[in-house]
Amino acid sequence: MSSTIMITSRAIARQAAAKPLRAVVATRAASTWSNVPQGPPAILGITEAFKADSHSEKINLGVGAYRDDKGKPYVLPSVKTAEQKVVTSNLDKEYAGITGVPSFTKAAVLLAYGPDSAPLKEDCIAVTQSISGTGALRIGGAFLERFYPEAKAIYIPTPSWANHQAVFKDSGLKVEKYRYYNKETIGLDFDGMVADIKAMPKKSIILLHACAHNPTGVDPTEEQWRAISDAVKEGEHFPFFDMAYQGFASGDTNKDAYALRYFISQGHTPCLSQSFAKNMGLYGERVGAFSMVCASAEEKKRVDSQIKILVRPLYSNPPVHGARIASEILNDATLNKQWLGEVKDMAERIIKMRALLKDNLEKLGSKHDWSHITSQIGMFAYTGLTPEQMDTLAKEHSVYATKDGRISVAGITTDNVKRLAESIYKVTG
Ligand SMILES: Cc1ncc(COP(=O)(O)O)c(C=O)c1O
Repeated sequence: MSSTIMITSRAIARQAAAKPLRAVVATRAASTWSNVPQGPPAILGITEAFKADSHSEKINLGVGAYRDDKGKPYVLPSVKTAEQKVVTSNLDKEYAGITGVPSFTKAAVLLAYGPDSAPLKEDCIAVTQSISGTGALRIGGAFLERFYPEAKAIYIPTPSWANHQAVFKDSGLKVEKYRYYNKETIGLDFDGMVADIKAMPKKSIILLHACAHNPTGVDPTEEQWRAISDAVKEGEHFPFFDMAYQGFASGDTNKDAYALRYFISQGHTPCLSQSFAKNMGLYGERVGAFSMVCASAEEKKRVDSQIKILVRPLYSNPPVHGARIASEILNDATLNKQWLGEVKDMAERIIKMRALLKDNLEKLGSKHDWSHITSQIGMFAYTGLTPEQMDTLAKEHSVYATKDGRISVAGITTDNVKRLAESIYKVTG
């Protein structure tokens, strides 16, 4: 037996030695994938640079996920309890329907649209479970590409979540921009935004971040939302709400749903992407929902049938585990109350860290106005620092974040905020 192996391996070695090098090169050149270009390097490589840094007090403000006050990933206690309930109930692992776990989707739309929602009461909202928020946006993009009767262009804010452009482009929509952020004020370019909405061709599709705008942390006030609603209505535009942070912005899920609910009260019939990644900390479970407000229950049925036709060839049906956890939390009164408290605690920790950072900068005697740190909302803050200043922060102070000056406030802790402020102060004065 062993001699057979020896003979075979010797024969292979002889063959390999006899093979001219040119033949190997020729085989490689003829590869089916020789024309596949190398993609750009991973986004700024913050994680790699952070890992490689040996500074004992290095700070990572580049993560897009919540961290507790010790800088650690956080599994919500309500999620742990709900998961335990799911496990002990010993459910089977059969496929869900194409649109997912019904008890989850029903509760998800109730959370977003609210118990007083007229289209919900009239059974006019089509909904499907999705692969978190990204999947919901992708289904929405595909639905609009296939059925929206007007121009197939979607307007997204400048800047927007980095993946929006790719998601909608890959859905077959043309991606256009509207003004949103004002560099000078480090705030909302409200006039620019409204002017751009008014200048869009009639019946355009407009993507709106429902709350906690990513990456800027700059949201319109309720009064500004009302004016934005008027402008959208005037242009007969179609609003697509992306709500990836419900509850995470203010700590109150109803307050964070203001824009969506106000638009509906004004007669808009938007569609909506929901994510439970942040507000339930279910990042890797990929729990989300896509819904479409329809004009009637009959229209909802037709839309629903087409959503199923879209989803089936994409992934057949969504995963059940995370949706079952979310369903427990949303449908069990005690767990729901506990979860709302935990969402509030996460939001409040972030709000507290914003205040602490600003206080520390002021105490150091910084000549800059840092009020935007506390007026912005949600997980991210746009500091207004330049790419060069962000570079210096990383190289000289071991503070890592994206070059656009965005910091993840979730990465700030009571232990590192002082050193962070000192580092920013040294760089900006
Ligand atoms: C604005 C916005 N939309 C959608 C998403 C999608 O997130 P996920 O697919 O993890 O739910 C994110 C994630 O960061 C986001 O910031």
